[in-house]
Amino acid sequence: MKQRHPFVLRSLPYSFRVGIALLTITLLGGYIVSGLHLSWHYDNRDEEPGLTMNDIIGAYHGVQAPSPLVAALESGHPEDLSDPERNAMLEWLRGDRLSQDYDNLDLGENAPSEIIAFNCLDCHTRTATGEQSFPSVPLEYWDDIQSIAYSKDIQPAGENIVAMSQHAHAPTMAIILIVLGWLTVCTRFWKGLTGLILMVAAAGLLVDMAGWWITRDIAEFAYAVVIGGGIYAAGTTLLGLMIIIDCLLPAGKGAAESA
Ligand code: HEC
Repeated sequence: MKQRHPFVLRSLPYSFRVGIALLTITLLGGYIVSGLHLSWHYDNRDEEPGLTMNDIIGAYHGVQAPSPLVAALESGHPEDLSDPERNAMLEWLRGDRLSQDYDNLDLGENAPSEIIAFNCLDCHTRTATGEQSFPSVPLEYWDDIQSIAYSKDIQPAGENIVAMSQHAHAPTMAIILIVLGWLTVCTRFWKGLTGLILMVAAAGLLVDMAGWWITRDIAEFAYAVVIGGGIYAAGTTLLGLMIIIDCLLPAGKGAAESA
């Protein structure tokens, strides 16, 4: 037995349907803007340009990574660096006068720029060609050094901030999906399909929102946050498009039947 739905979008006056279509376009447009906002907001958690997974992990879990320069020196690289020079380098890198002391004349031969010039530049210049050389990590200028001298320490947002943000996001995003789901049920599209999209998008939202908290303990869950959020966004967009299409298309004969 086929159950007839009492409220069918295309049985409404065209002006009403255009109104719904315009509102849905505005809603989706708003989501595109939030997407942009999101990518700008998290962009620079790590020092790499663009929105990377590290930015997301940084925001929800935090990221700690030692400075590559410190790691190399501590691991005994390069082999023939004298102990006093290695210690001078490490002391400088662990201090908080990195830029000031890099080529501080008062430090004489122990100035980092001097140690690097004598011990590293055979291999670490852009033009180094020796068999052992490593031109992809140049150490010629302060700018080169600066990019590998600092350890990464990205702190996650505080629990109160996450709670505040979620208190605004979770209800709104859920209600938007409920409204869109409701409207798509009133379109001419097959309800099995719209129901499936709604269910998957809803699950995506739940995983995303729960992930904000789980990622605090389990960094890998950041991927679930991104995938869940992506699924929610895709589902919302699909449902929105279906509503827009249904509202703008001519009503057809189905409308008369159900009106
Ligand atoms: C004989 C050539 C040679 C010298 C001298 C040398 N390096 Fe290297 N360096 C390499 C090579 C080859 C690698 C890449 C393979 C490896 O990690 O051992 C490397 C890797 C590194 C890395 C790791 C880069 C990364 O992120 O993968 C750092 C940092 C580094 N060197 C710093 C230094 C410093 C500082 C000095 C001087 C105190 C120095 N190196 C002297 C050849 C050299």
